[in-house]
Amino acid sequence: MKTENLESVARKLVAPGKGILAADESSGTIEKRLKSINVPSTEENRRAYREVLFTTKGAGEFISGVILFDETIRQKTRDGRTFVEALEGQGIIPGIKVDKGAKAMANFPGEKITEGLDELRERLAEYRQLGARFAKWRAVIAIGDKIPTRTCIAGNAEALARYAALCQDEDIVPIVEPEVLMDGTHTIERHFEVTEQTLETVFHALYEHRVVLEGMLLKPNMVLSGKECPQQASVQEVAEATVRCMKHVVPAAVPGLVFLSGGQSDQQATEHLNAMNQLPDLPWQLSFSYGRALQAPVLKAWKGDAANVSAAQQAFHHRAMCNSKARFGKYTEEMEAAKAA
Ligand code: 13P
Repeated sequence: MKTENLESVARKLVAPGKGILAADESSGTIEKRLKSINVPSTEENRRAYREVLFTTKGAGEFISGVILFDETIRQKTRDGRTFVEALEGQGIIPGIKVDKGAKAMANFPGEKITEGLDELRERLAEYRQLGARFAKWRAVIAIGDKIPTRTCIAGNAEALARYAALCQDEDIVPIVEPEVLMDGTHTIERHFEVTEQTLETVFHALYEHRVVLEGMLLKPNMVLSGKECPQQASVQEVAEATVRCMKHVVPAAVPGLVFLSGGQSDQQATEHLNAMNQLPDLPWQLSFSYGRALQAPVLKAWKGDAANVSAAQQAFHHRAMCNSKARFGKYTEEMEAAKAA
């Protein structure tokens, strides 16, 4: 297998000052997001919303890649360009979500296993033709009473590794996303322990499947206090715990870590990324692949009204700029006020 292209795309996706927009919400998730602003989830509304994001002028300065959903990669702008062409015109690399969702795992109450390996090679070949240069597969690990189990972690790790190997064989950079959820009352120490165990298992499976580490990206959760934990860790504590955890188990050959936001507020996600990038001796690029933390202010400004497109695009540009600054550890809270001005 030739891996020069994989390595070059992976490096471009984590170029200094840039990160990824996750706009690959599946039908159910985008319906929830649009409902939150009282917009019905019709194909045209989903298209119009994604057009707001993808045609924001100057987005390419901060955004290296966008993850699309199956429906979205086939859609066009109002002026008739495919979304893939519109993104490429901004210097942004198109990507695609290829998993078929996290489903209830048989015999393991409260745990999920991600499906989507059937015919994956054929689907990847089609997406490559449509213009996708990278892909995403998300596994979900929940923390609770006696969970996660070893079986759940191992099953998801094996699926992630099979997906990643197939991607590389089809010349697509795999983003490997094992998300340990922040939902629950657990402490940051427990989140650390489960994240470390999960990533250790995932990298073992990637090794067994001969995945080229230089030609992939990891999309991890940050190490946080559970959402309902009474004792919330500070920004500095989150940054230090996350980087320490990653250093234990993520090989330095991986070019970059693109964190998910996972239910943090947009500002929190930026602050955490910023604090991590201020720490010394980082062996990888530390970047973002945010969904909610990049889109929440855009949805709020857009509200489904064409008259608000410019305000919504300003909100997106601002959020992307703040996260770009955080890539250098140069984000400050004053930048939030600049948006209001
Ligand atoms: P969030 O940043 O909203 O967690 O979404 C990122 C993502 O792509 C999850 O798969």
